[in-house]
Amino acid sequence: MSDNLVIAPSILAADFSRLADSARAVEGAADWLHVDVMDYHFVPNLTIGLPVVQSLRRATTLPFDCHLMIADPARWATDYAEAGAYNVTFHAEAATDPVAIAKDLHAAGSRAGLAIDRDTPVDGYLDLLPHFDLLLIMTIKAGFGGQAFLPELLDKVRTARRHIDTGHLELRIEVDGGVAEDTIAACAAAGADTFVAGTAVYGAQDPAAAVRKLRGIAADN
Ligand code: DX5
Ligand code: ZN
Repeated sequence: MSDNLVIAPSILAADFSRLADSARAVEGAADWLHVDVMDYHFVPNLTIGLPVVQSLRRATTLPFDCHLMIADPARWATDYAEAGAYNVTFHAEAATDPVAIAKDLHAAGSRAGLAIDRDTPVDGYLDLLPHFDLLLIMTIKAGFGGQAFLPELLDKVRTARRHIDTGHLELRIEVDGGVAEDTIAACAAAGADTFVAGTAVYGAQDPAAAVRKLRGIAADN
């Protein structure tokens, strides 16, 4: 699996006055740039929205992995696809018809991801996975960077990995929250192949070196 790993630094942990420089700092090391969109409603935090994504899209060659923590993804998700996002992930808890949104995203030219927050069991969503390219399992409660990793949430990764492998489905399992040098091995062992890391990358002296280190650890599992 090691050549199939994706490391996606989360720009949420970067200096917001230097977003373009922060994106470029991981070019050549990272696979995707994870962009956390929070709306002050679905989560209590407010981060960045469409105009910033549109501007940042022109500033880096990295594919964007947009993680929408917003209350009305049916209304907004395709705008991020049209802004040039490679993948757009929205939360299961915020969607009344997740499959319809996935279809809209595909029609708008992006991949579609489904996110499962800390308190949501994954089981009820397994049957929807053929419509998606990515399943994001939160390893914290969505809303803020810098929280402690919750290892018990890896049970959901194991459940999803078993389901995907036995069903011969092709989709990525992404983990997000507290992913760092001391936790990424457990994520990979549980079956994740796509890793978001905010603090562990942008809190490091050399963000690109931090990405390479994380990839090395994940690849050993
Ligand atoms: C939080 C976001 C994460 C966040 C992770 O809700 O979805 O992407 O940036 O930050 P760290 O890696 O610091 O936990
Ligand atoms: Zn995220």
